[in-house]
Amino acid sequence: MSRAAVVAGLGSWVPPTVVSNAELAAQLDTSDEWIRTRTGIRQRHVIEPGSATGDLAVAAGRRALASAGVDGADLVVLATSTPDQPCPATAPEVASRLGLTGVGAFDVAAVCTGFVYALATAAGLLATGVGDSALVIGADTFSTILDPADRTTRAIFGDGAGAVLLRAGEPGELGALNGFVLGSDGTRRELIEVPAGGSRQRSTGRPADPADTYFAMQGKPVFAEAVAMMASSIRTTTERMGWSVAQIDHFVLHQANARILAAVAQRLEVPLERFVSNIERVGNTVAASIPLAMADAAREGRLGAGQRVVLAGFGGGLTWGSTALTWPDLKTV
Ligand code: COA
Repeated sequence: MSRAAVVAGLGSWVPPTVVSNAELAAQLDTSDEWIRTRTGIRQRHVIEPGSATGDLAVAAGRRALASAGVDGADLVVLATSTPDQPCPATAPEVASRLGLTGVGAFDVAAVCTGFVYALATAAGLLATGVGDSALVIGADTFSTILDPADRTTRAIFGDGAGAVLLRAGEPGELGALNGFVLGSDGTRRELIEVPAGGSRQRSTGRPADPADTYFAMQGKPVFAEAVAMMASSIRTTTERMGWSVAQIDHFVLHQANARILAAVAQRLEVPLERFVSNIERVGNTVAASIPLAMADAAREGRLGAGQRVVLAGFGGGLTWGSTALTWPDLKTV
């Protein structure tokens, strides 16, 4: 039987600076009431000038290593769409700052599904013996790519990082990740994008229109796709696990919007109480969202060893993905 990736450590980090809905309302044509009722978000964390995604990734990675009681890993996989610079990848520097110079380290870009894609990638590398352990980090700083005048995206996104330490183990163990589903639909790329700054724009030789250098999103179709694709990928993962949806104790979904979580719960016909949510405090933290929600729920004692947990993400690309595990006996730090 092939080796499985087993969750052995969990950590997270958000920068200390908080932006409340009231602070946004003082700058933009919005209100605390609109943001709360349409998204469930009350505040978000943002980095200080001069900080970067890698700083958050290092902090979360260090905590995941401490939670696992280890001081190293054979691989570092960083899910991010806001790397410290366009080239090179951010993961090698994160690895070195964690004292892991020399290990395999690379970034995975799948926007809000990035963490699930990174878990699947690391699981494959552990299964084929490329390494015996992997530090998988999701970290993003969308505050750096939002249009300061865009009330919709500024209300939704926040900065943060979350990480797990995976070790090679048996598929039947507590903490083993199984039932992976990954999907994409590039025909809908324009629903979530930063139009300029890549090779297509730069090859023109003309400077980018400043408006095209910001993150842009079409909220309504994204909402509908997120509900449909997370519900269907959860169903497929659950079937692959040999479980029924009703048997899942906790759903840890990408925290895009509290109403998206409620709509997925309704579609799957399971009580909303089984859906972990920290969106009120952190907003949508992109690739950090799922591990940050897991870490907060674990710290609150909500996730018990042996309970059935499904993780599901959805994001730009479009991309979606899910996986499942029975919760391990984890030390939270
Ligand atoms: N404050 C006040 N009004 C706002 C606002 C804000 N922060 N953001 C948008 N509005 C306005 C819109 O401009 C629109 O005004 P108009 O009717 O004059 O054009 C109005 O509110 C209603 O917008 P609508 O799109 O109908 O609202 P909605 O109920 O669909 O909620 C989102 C908007 C963005 C919150 C919602 O579509 C959403 O969450 N989509 C998914 C986003 C997401 O999850 N992205 C990441 C995916 S990984």
